[in-house]
Amino acid sequence: MPSEQSALPDFLYGTAWKEERTPALTELALRMGFRGIDTANQRRHYFEAGVGQGLAAAYRAGVVTRADLFLQTKFTYQPGQDHRLPYDPAARLSDQVAQSMASSLEHLGTDHVDSYVLHGPASGYGWTDADSEVWEAMRKERDAGRTRFLGVSNVSLRHLEQMAVAHPEGPTFVQNRCYARFGWDRDVRLFCRERKIVYQGFSLLTANLEVLRHPVVTGIATRANASPAQVVFSFAGAVGILPLTGTSNPEHMTQDLASVHLTLPPDAVNEIESLAG
Ligand SMILES: NC(=O)c1ccc[n+]([C@@H]2O[C@H](COP(=O)([O-])OP(=O)(O)OC[C@H]3O[C@@H](n4cnc5c(N)ncnc54)[C@H](OP(=O)(O)O)[C@@H]3O)[C@@H](O)[C@H]2O)c1
Repeated sequence: MPSEQSALPDFLYGTAWKEERTPALTELALRMGFRGIDTANQRRHYFEAGVGQGLAAAYRAGVVTRADLFLQTKFTYQPGQDHRLPYDPAARLSDQVAQSMASSLEHLGTDHVDSYVLHGPASGYGWTDADSEVWEAMRKERDAGRTRFLGVSNVSLRHLEQMAVAHPEGPTFVQNRCYARFGWDRDVRLFCRERKIVYQGFSLLTANLEVLRHPVVTGIATRANASPAQVVFSFAGAVGILPLTGTSNPEHMTQDLASVHLTLPPDAVNEIESLAG
């Protein structure tokens, strides 16, 4: 990982599905101590301009400055969007990327983001020519200084392997839904570890409700004087997953951030890793 990335936070606050509460919750997350913000220029699930309003409120109040933050947003293909598009759908994909990025920077009130992520490949089956065009356009945005790093999301091992063949440069970040029943996305995590790609995991709680109730996890939580949710986030950190949370609850914000400082015994980490899958 590049040295200037030492400022990478150990937790990302996710802003999906918050609608009109987005500005207040973004500001609250910053006040509670989050320094990494994840959003997308996909109005269907995110209110990116609302994230920008929350950032502006936090700047005005002196809570943080732009330099304190890691801002991540995404380019989303038209099939993942509703009618509120951040680009001309008739434009070439490479132009859509440039238009979406310009719109994101305006929404977020900044001249650059820290990470720009392809929200998902065009096909679930493999890396396509469309993805290659988008990726090259994203690289141009990076070279022009509008993002520091690039990433891909919702990818399989197959996507990543095909992408590696098609492009000299791989992603700095992979962001995936992390299911315990698939070994916590074991194959993709291994690929990332071998290539020093930072793996970001979302839905760590919501995709793994059975884990939160599992006696192994509740037992570890009791012994650590922590909640099962904190154990899962702490486990994530221990195996190299950069976790996301989208909690709307200030107490959960505090608990989620505190989980970073919770150190689980190595045998507990191994037990959780092999719980399922
Ligand atoms: N790339 C993609 O396609 C993609 C897809 C989905 C999500 N994401 C990103 O990931 C972020 C997180 O999404 P997510 O799917 O992980 O789900 P989420 O929206 O963060 O939901 C987390 C759930 O866990 C609960 N929770 C959080 N901390 C807790 C705690 N300490 N104790 C008990 N419950 C707790 C929350 O409830 P409370 O609100 O009551 O705390 C909420 O119901 C999103 O906002 C988005 O930025 C990306």
